[in-house]
Amino acid sequence: MWSKVILFVFFVNYGNSANILGLYFHAGKSHHILGEMLLKELARRGHNVTMASPFPLKEPFPNYTDIHLTGILEDQIARESMFMKMNKGHALVGVNDVLELTRAQTELTLNHTEMAKLLKSGTKFDVIIIDWFMNGAILMYGKLFNAPIIPIASHGTTHLANYIVGNPAPPSYIPNAMLPFPPNMTFFQRMVNGLVTIAYNVVGHTNAKYHQALLEKYFENAPSLDELKDTVALVLSNGHYSFESPRPFVPNVIPVGGFHVQKARKLPTDLQKYMDEAKHGVVYFSLGSNMKSVLLPKEKQQQILKAFAKIPHKVLWKWEDDNLENKPDNVLIRKWFPQNDILGHPNLKLFITHGGLLSTIEALHHGVPVLGIPIFGDQKANIPNAVSSGYAVQLELADLDEATLTKALDEILTNPKYQENAKKRSQLLHDQPMSPMDTAVFWVEHVIRHKGAPHLRNLGSYLPWYQYLMLDVALFVVLFLLVVVGIVGFVIRKICGCCCQRKSKEKRE
Ligand SMILES: *[C@@H]1O[C@H](CO)[C@@H](O)[C@H](O)[C@H]1NC(C)=O
Ligand SMILES: *[C@@H]1O[C@H](CO)[C@@H](O)[C@H](O)[C@H]1NC(C)=O
Ligand SMILES: *[C@@H]1O[C@H](CO)[C@@H](O)[C@H](O)[C@H]1NC(C)=O
Repeated sequence: MWSKVILFVFFVNYGNSANILGLYFHAGKSHHILGEMLLKELARRGHNVTMASPFPLKEPFPNYTDIHLTGILEDQIARESMFMKMNKGHALVGVNDVLELTRAQTELTLNHTEMAKLLKSGTKFDVIIIDWFMNGAILMYGKLFNAPIIPIASHGTTHLANYIVGNPAPPSYIPNAMLPFPPNMTFFQRMVNGLVTIAYNVVGHTNAKYHQALLEKYFENAPSLDELKDTVALVLSNGHYSFESPRPFVPNVIPVGGFHVQKARKLPTDLQKYMDEAKHGVVYFSLGSNMKSVLLPKEKQQQILKAFAKIPHKVLWKWEDDNLENKPDNVLIRKWFPQNDILGHPNLKLFITHGGLLSTIEALHHGVPVLGIPIFGDQKANIPNAVSSGYAVQLELADLDEATLTKALDEILTNPKYQENAKKRSQLLHDQPMSPMDTAVFWVEHVIRHKGAPHLRNLGSYLPWYQYLMLDVALFVVLFLLVVVGIVGFVIRKICGCCCQRKSKEKRE
């Protein structure tokens, strides 16, 4: 209530309509959803929003102008098979594929005629909101438009965004987002976490070189990426302690996880009826937008159906084809479901998911237990997180068959602890002074009001790594101590030497 009043006052006093540019260069649908949700809310509150992305709106939205970045979606679809490959390996497999993808998409943006047109038009922007996905060269637009940048960290508070604002994340207790480790790691896990952290730093360093080369290819007198960090005002992180382990935040990293989730609306008539009439409840199964269910091996598809046939619940399966062989009567397939509204239906008992961060947050928002089948990337960490919070069961894709799925369904649908814990965690996400969306909007407007909010920045992001880690000082202290010890040792030896000489002389005499 008070938050609304305060926001209203700000709105009336300073919230003059600002010009806001969204730059969503990457064709990941889940990334895009975050940007679109925030920009629509900003448009609703009276700002003039321009969104450059591969996904223009299907229906026009007031105060919201689309710029269609063609060619990017096509590029991503051509690389789709990499997601399956990433299922099989360790935390670093596929990283190069993803980096190549984001580099290609960054270049398509930098070289896009629509971006050139926008620059030429002379439109002024008060702030630029970008998708942050290892895409350093995109920061150039901050300089070109002379506007502060707000990166949205779709993956939450991780190494991907921490370094641009100097947010600390000690590997001693913050597991890398690609590792399925709990916060209180064993010695071995800490070692792996430390080494993976170093590996990601090296990878990041190499990637930065490619982005520097991109800048030099497309702009005369291109600045260095380090200089471009200056354009970053603050990071909106898609994280929160209800689903991330507790961790430090510098003043310009703001956790707003959950801001994209809306109140569940009434379902389309047929679905509403279907769910209302489900006496035993409904199970919803979707592997998200990147990883399609039809890509699962045929054999696994049939095993899954056999397990579904054994439960009394109705099952909704997001299935990207018209037909599904041997589909039992209690399974309904559709190419698309209004996921959020389904998760919000009181008869929904379980969400079977790949564990993408947005899906995990949506389940948490609505207090729904989760059966996670992580496929790649941060999913392999999101699900163990949910398991340790007590509202999820994890199943490996490789182990998925009729027996394992039946067992997991039985456990999660009959043991009330999953439902209880989902509700408890959900309360943590909701128990905040301002809603995550109000928080996000507040900080965007804060950056606009204070011209990039330089007062929030810390030196941590500018210091060279050896200074940040105090290694130069440590080296100096160690050398100093060595010299002192050396001198003391030398003096002692000299004195002893004299004594001994005298003693031996005395003896001889
Ligand atoms: C569009 O922005 C104007 C102010 O620039 C505002 O008055 C209006 O309410 C906005 N329109 C909608 C539909 O939100
Ligand atoms: C709103 O943004 C568009 C660019 O998308 C720009 O052409 C237009 O001039 C802006 N309107 C105002 C009132 O600044
Ligand atoms: C950049 O754009 C131009 C014209 O749109 C095109 O001819 C050229 O191939 C593009 N370069 C790359 C590397 O995509």
